[in-house]
Amino acid sequence: MKNQVLELLNKNTDYISGEYLSSKLEISRAAIWKHIKKLKEDGYVIESSTKKGYKLISCPCLIDPEYIKLKVNTKFIGKNIIYLNSCDSTNDVGKALENKSIMNGTLIISEEQLKGKGRLGRSFISPKFKGLWFSLVLTPTIEPIKVAPITQITAAAINLALKEHGVNTHIKWVNDIILNNKKIGGVLLDLSCELSLVEYIALGIGLNINLDKQDIPTDLVDKATSLKIETSIDHNRNDILISFLNNFEKLYLDYILNLSSEEALKICKENSITLGRELKIKTIQEEFYCTGYDISNEGNLIVQLADGSFKTLFSGEVTVRNSNGNYV
Ligand code: BTN
Repeated sequence: MKNQVLELLNKNTDYISGEYLSSKLEISRAAIWKHIKKLKEDGYVIESSTKKGYKLISCPCLIDPEYIKLKVNTKFIGKNIIYLNSCDSTNDVGKALENKSIMNGTLIISEEQLKGKGRLGRSFISPKFKGLWFSLVLTPTIEPIKVAPITQITAAAINLALKEHGVNTHIKWVNDIILNNKKIGGVLLDLSCELSLVEYIALGIGLNINLDKQDIPTDLVDKATSLKIETSIDHNRNDILISFLNNFEKLYLDYILNLSSEEALKICKENSITLGRELKIKTIQEEFYCTGYDISNEGNLIVQLADGSFKTLFSGEVTVRNSNGNYV
């Protein structure tokens, strides 16, 4: 019935009264109102006027797997797509897939996540139709110790993709994507392996594309933002995703086939907001202040301490000192 309401709204360019809808579909006006409410929740913009009725303003721009498959210029990344309206976490969907070896490169994308996961056990908000919430299932034949640069490769591919869409972002080691000093995205790499061989990777990427200010939780407004908030433009999620997949495959194949992450590392360094900046580092063992110095070929952050000595970080949470002297 919801679709029939939509069909009638779609046929009319002007307002259509609740009374007309109700008699045409032989349901009560209260039922019509409920279907309109559901359509709005699904992303349709419908104007309601007590006098004139309802008018369809716009339809949600959905992720379109067929369009992506047609347009993507890759050998295997994103050629097989699992498209979901909703799920808890695309990484979890990826991890639960059977026969991962034949699923190499599979893209799992959801319009929303109900239990999106961030690094360090945090949650990651993923509101419906507003962002890119997706995972790639990867089965590279490499040792677990060689996995870390894949995070840099991913951050570099995001940077290139957004540049193709006119947006210059920065990368905060290890994998935060930053726009105007606030986070617009992140990467979560779930690894399953034996001691000396990777079984599979669920590489999760979350990008805040068209979130409005009210979609950002109040406790995060100083730290998080979206492309739309920063550029005042509604961005095409399908095209950004296609750019990402194209850029990712090039960098990823270079790494898997030649173990070279030179290009990705160059992009990460050139667009880093960590190098040359005063940092506060929090690891499981300690918390300390230092200056970002370099990123090693293995993807580790090299920092310089106040006494001039250097330290290499394999993991940890980094905050950067801003012009007000606060670490964000
Ligand atoms: C972070 O910044 O802490 C990492 C965020 C990663 C979020 C993505 S969204 C798609 C995939 N599924 C998840 O549950 N998390 C990742």
